Amino acid sequence: MKILLSLSLTALFLILCFSLSQGFNPKCDTPDRGSNLQVFHVFSPCSPFRPSTPLSWEESVLQMQAKDQARLQYLSSLAVAKRKSVVPIASGRQIIQSPTYIVRAKIGTPPQTLLMAMDTSNDAAWIPCTGCVGCSATVFAPPKSTTFKPLDCNSAQCKQVPNPTCGVRACSFNITYGSSTIASNLVQDTITLATDPVPAYTFGCIVKTTGSSLPPQGLLGLGRGPLSLLSQTQNLYKSTFSYCLPSFKSPNFSGSLRLGPIGQPIRIKYTPLLKNPRRSSLYYVNLIAIRVGRRVVDVPPTALAFNPTTGAGTIFDSGTVFTRLVEPVYLAVRNEFRRRVGKAVPVTTLGGFDTCYAVPIIAPTITFLFSGMNVTLPPDNILIHSTAGSISCLAMAAAPDNVNSVLNVIANMQQQNHRILIDVPNSRLGVARETCT
Ligand SMILES: *[C@@H]1O[C@H](CO)[C@@H](O)[C@H](O)[C@H]1NC(C)=O
Ligand SMILES: *[C@@H]1O[C@H](CO)[C@@H](O)[C@H](O)[C@H]1NC(C)=O
Ligand SMILES: *[C@@H]1O[C@H](CO)[C@@H](O)[C@H](O)[C@H]1NC(C)=O
Repeated sequence: MKILLSLSLTALFLILCFSLSQGFNPKCDTPDRGSNLQVFHVFSPCSPFRPSTPLSWEESVLQMQAKDQARLQYLSSLAVAKRKSVVPIASGRQIIQSPTYIVRAKIGTPPQTLLMAMDTSNDAAWIPCTGCVGCSATVFAPPKSTTFKPLDCNSAQCKQVPNPTCGVRACSFNITYGSSTIASNLVQDTITLATDPVPAYTFGCIVKTTGSSLPPQGLLGLGRGPLSLLSQTQNLYKSTFSYCLPSFKSPNFSGSLRLGPIGQPIRIKYTPLLKNPRRSSLYYVNLIAIRVGRRVVDVPPTALAFNPTTGAGTIFDSGTVFTRLVEPVYLAVRNEFRRRVGKAVPVTTLGGFDTCYAVPIIAPTITFLFSGMNVTLPPDNILIHSTAGSISCLAMAAAPDNVNSVLNVIANMQQQNHRILIDVPNSRLGVARETCT
């Protein structure tokens, strides 16, 4: 049994990562068109960041969870703006990557291509620059760009970054991202997204970083706060974008990020976006209840309520892998899920997942009931399972014990193969099923 189990786990991991890295996928070189950017998973054959050494499936799941734990702690520190940033978890494991999905961006004139991580819970863009201490090998070279310009301390933009200091020439600032600290100069250059040039785009040119949370070739923040891409491209994109995240299992692994109101889906369900003035970049929505099969599970209303003061509520996030629910909500969902699968079927655990099965099961559907919009997840968004189908886990969890989280996070595994539309002018978030690849 043990051998069979580990064989099937290995097989799943092969599907997750390695079969994908065999052979070159010609799609990787397809240029982005219009205002559409291809979105790749970090394990995609088009990603240079896919792991090079084989790990067991268990190890890969545990790593994704460890990464999620750091992410959740980071998001919680954002939500509770008044409280000092919590100490990052010292995980013994090497964390493969921070945010899970990457897009291609071209910086400067002539353009230099970087693969930046998409982060819907962050405003800023940070790009590692030549001479950066602690960055990976691929950096943006400002001297090679004719449109590059450092911003000085008197610039209006410098007043929008946290605790700016005046460097020799430029406005500088330090921030933390997950477990990383990042020292940057505030600069401007043209960024080209698909075929849209955005002149004089303000971003952080990283000069020094520590820790392992920073994505290797930079971060593209899709939050909606000041200095965000949305704020800086107001005329071009009208604070509207949508994305479709490809499944981990998809052999082609390409989704899309569509910027601006043109070409957005018309047949899509909406829920209002909520605004937390203390944390303007997060996309909060009102999750009212959760249905497992046909039954709405019983949870204390306070566990789901939006509270701008404490940061409590529900957000959509592109950087967390597995949905995290506050404990009473998770327990109610899990218990009903187990009841529906059947008491006779033995439950096992895997890392932070406490509802796994070593035999094939028929999973109930899970429906998130938002204000004005119900989203029913198909099994692919609920279960993570091995190729042979012999191990499957409910791919959600409660916030870990050491994270005092009040946030429910609808994460990327649950968003895969759905189009998520952010429409800031109309203050709404749309969800529609779509096969991304
Ligand atoms: C920011 O980080 C740099 C590099 O680590 C350090 O030299 C500088 O003192 C820091 N500045 C502030 C204001 O903390
Ligand atoms: C969502 O489902 C609930 C109950 O399951 C139902 O009462 C409600 O009308 C539905 N909402 C929408 C917008 O369809
Ligand atoms: C992957 O791409 C190929 C060719 O581009 C296509 O024929 C195939 O249907 C795709 N597979 C999936 C699962 O989308």
